[in-house]
Amino acid sequence: MNKLAFFSTALVAVLFASCGNNNPAPVTGSDTTVNPATAAAVLPDTAAFHDIVDGQPTALFILKGKGQATAAITNYGARLVSLLVPDKKGVLTDVVLGYDSVGKYIHQPDTYFGAIVGRYGNRIAKAKFKLNGKTYTLATNDGPNHLHGGKKGFDAVVWTGHQLNDHAVELTYQSKDGEEGYPGNLTVKVTYTLTDSNALVVNYYATTDKATVLNITNHSYFNLNGQGSGTINNHTLMINADQYTPVDSTLIPTGKIEPVAGTPLDFRQPMYIGARVNDTANPQIKYGKGYDHNFVLNRAKGDTIIGGGNLAHAVTVQGDHSDIVLNVYTDQPGVQFYGGNFLKGTNPLKAGKRDDYRSAFCLETQRFPDSPNEPSFPTTELKPGETFQSTTIFQFSTK
Ligand code: GLA
Repeated sequence: MNKLAFFSTALVAVLFASCGNNNPAPVTGSDTTVNPATAAAVLPDTAAFHDIVDGQPTALFILKGKGQATAAITNYGARLVSLLVPDKKGVLTDVVLGYDSVGKYIHQPDTYFGAIVGRYGNRIAKAKFKLNGKTYTLATNDGPNHLHGGKKGFDAVVWTGHQLNDHAVELTYQSKDGEEGYPGNLTVKVTYTLTDSNALVVNYYATTDKATVLNITNHSYFNLNGQGSGTINNHTLMINADQYTPVDSTLIPTGKIEPVAGTPLDFRQPMYIGARVNDTANPQIKYGKGYDHNFVLNRAKGDTIIGGGNLAHAVTVQGDHSDIVLNVYTDQPGVQFYGGNFLKGTNPLKAGKRDDYRSAFCLETQRFPDSPNEPSFPTTELKPGETFQSTTIFQFSTK
């Protein structure tokens, strides 16, 4: 059985095993309004993505499988713009936040909607790291730290897009030696593939001509009741992680790896996202302003090889109104669960919606933040002659 067929079959078992609900009661309060979609969502107009940015053409690529799902991807930032999946009644629901034109991605305040972030996704402390005895200085674009590749990261450049067939697009970017302060000419390739069983598969490849550091991920903001439909507090979340990397007040890992047990970060059993999101007596919730943490994913017993398509089940999330279920599989060692704490409702989303506070979550599969400064974390170094290869699968179904 090939990998994808295996996952569609395994999915049914996973859903029944992991989507029971141990929650005491749904979360209520002022930030729990939900306006679920009632009409079928549609894709943005492709013409609104035809432009010339930094001298290069931009476009919108549409992916279809034999299932009902459809995805739209732009080569500006290699961003997932729309992902339509059927809810429990069969109504097509757009489960990712995004804009309806390339211009809005360029001009709205940056939130990384749907983007591929890099060269180093997540944070590097004090925007400095040492590699082979040399210190590299990067942009400080997140307080004292470096975030998501710098001022003009992979989210804000034009990639070369090539539609492979109806269900796959390949995006390539050549990042120059010295770009945003990183060493080495880096070639990055990302393919998005929509399968017949409503899974979006993201494959990453990279090579370099000089030793460098690399951490690339997709930064989609999901709302399984439909983008712009309100809070995600009553989505049910399971993260297959016994441990996480605690952070300081600037969200830089302390270097320790600690158990989630007994903390609001324990999502080993399905739990409403909002059940403990305001437990600011816990310093981690205080520092993150909610959830903004890297979880150390459990791997099957004996399964120590990370990367290279060695997938493990990382996360299950279920929308409370749509009953849409998202299962995430990855070969990466970590996942950043970010609960939309910095969203303010100021960005005009597709279909006239807004990006309200905590109305979306991100699941950024990754190596750990600040690894170049933490020798005990899995390495993020890429050497000449090596090929970085990684896969993450976002599998959709209904309960
Ligand atoms: C990541 C970070 C968050 C935030 C978002 C973008 O998920 O961990 O702190 O910066 O990106 O707003």
